[in-house]
Amino acid sequence: MKIIEVEATKRKPKPPADTQLGFGRYFSDHMMLMEFSPDKGWHDARIEPYHKLTFDPACMALHYAQQVFDGLKAYRGADGGIRLFRYRDHLERLHASAKRVCIPEFDVDKVADALKHLVLLDRHWVPKTEGCSLYIRPNIIATDPFLGVRPSENYLFYIILSPVGAYYPEGFNPVRIQVNDTMVRAVEGGIGEAKAGANYVASLLGQVQAKAAGFTQVLWLDASERRYVEEVGTMNIFFKIDGEVITAPLRGSILPGVTRRSTIQLLKDWDVPVSERRLAIDEIVDAARNERLEEVFGTGTAAVISPVGHFNYKGETFAVGDGLTGKLSQRLFDHLTALQYGKVEDPHGWVERIDL
Ligand code: COI
Repeated sequence: MKIIEVEATKRKPKPPADTQLGFGRYFSDHMMLMEFSPDKGWHDARIEPYHKLTFDPACMALHYAQQVFDGLKAYRGADGGIRLFRYRDHLERLHASAKRVCIPEFDVDKVADALKHLVLLDRHWVPKTEGCSLYIRPNIIATDPFLGVRPSENYLFYIILSPVGAYYPEGFNPVRIQVNDTMVRAVEGGIGEAKAGANYVASLLGQVQAKAAGFTQVLWLDASERRYVEEVGTMNIFFKIDGEVITAPLRGSILPGVTRRSTIQLLKDWDVPVSERRLAIDEIVDAARNERLEEVFGTGTAAVISPVGHFNYKGETFAVGDGLTGKLSQRLFDHLTALQYGKVEDPHGWVERIDL
């Protein structure tokens, strides 16, 4: 793979202290790119200095949203080592997302190699503070300059890197979410299970309304009955009721989260009852009223484990337990992050150290 390194004098200034990183505001010195054309397939994989991209105004991704992305993280461990968490699972999900919106298949192994090269080249951008990491954002866009509706023939695949802290301004403190029963994010048979930007734009108006009402995020319900909980758009969601942990099943409308899968596995390892089943919002409200709703937490690469302290449904706000971080949420957060920073055994082989 061709690598053009940025000149020493043109390196970007480093962001402020790790504690002020926020999420997705700073970008490292380099990026990986490759193109697809019908005659060459995916070709010309390379690493270049981070730069702006130029597009034809008719570029198809900009008109018909033929685009997918993923998000994964590199962590600097207590021993200084750089580790990736379940990167193959993320790239395989990107591959599946691409397929759903007619983007041509790519070689997961080759992209994994390029990704590791990129992270190692910019390793000094991996934050040193625990709780911070280097967020890796692969993105694929349709580039044909064409206004007819059909799959593009040409594509651009690129990866950028962003040093990040907590996704939510609340950090690991409990967030407040609003159940939206008027709009929907995705529908079974649609593209909800693909990590397509189009799913995120569908969630924006609900998010703006939730923010105006004092909530951090939206909890979406299923599209046909507006009854069963689905996901929070930026994370999957889990409910602990009477000792059982429940999350929505993968029926095509929610993202198959990598942190969701890891959470289910950890709960099984710990013999905590966990079910992937449809859960009606009435069941949750009933549990909240009767003090049986013990914990609610979201899972995601960006969100990690994000406890939910309150939720609002049809104008009424309910506390989850005592409104503070639950014991299980804390244990999951502690264990997942300990794995990611290389502080505990990794029996499932989720973590790979890449700087040796
Ligand atoms: C992630 O958790 O990586 C996400 O993609 C959520 C959001 C930042 C889009």
